[in-house]
Amino acid sequence: MKWTQKETMLLQDMMNSEQICIEKYADYAERACDEELKTLFEDIKTTEEEHYATLEQMQSGTIPQMNAGGSKAQPENASDSKAKKPAASEEDEYLCRDALDTEKHVSSLYDTCIFEFVSAQARDVLNHIQKEEQEHGKRIYDYMAAHGMTA
Ligand SMILES: [Fe+2]
Ligand SMILES: [Fe+2]
Repeated sequence: MKWTQKETMLLQDMMNSEQICIEKYADYAERACDEELKTLFEDIKTTEEEHYATLEQMQSGTIPQMNAGGSKAQPENASDSKAKKPAASEEDEYLCRDALDTEKHVSSLYDTCIFEFVSAQARDVLNHIQKEEQEHGKRIYDYMAAHGMTA
């Protein structure tokens, strides 16, 4: 696969953003007070690493095959559908707000980039990644709602 100059530039932009996500989630997993939040951040970090690897593979000229099932679905509030958790620390709330904002920005970056790619297969891959960014946002939002962080 030969990329246009614009596609090459955008792949680099997306990789830079994914790199920031990886570093951010590693840092936030360290900083979070609540164990559940630490696990959530570590989990999201793993997906961001997969995103980076996928883009790297594209950059080198191969478009990865997307498995039909897509990303694994997250259980809907598996354990904590009703009971409100105790209020979290201010630090945890700050980390959540910032992470949610980052996911919004990254998702909109993919939104913009997808339009610039000629190959339908490349678009599918970027679409798949964008969907996972939206899932990250949802998981962070759900955590915040369960811990009384949403206004
Ligand atoms: Fe990502
Ligand atoms: Fe993400």
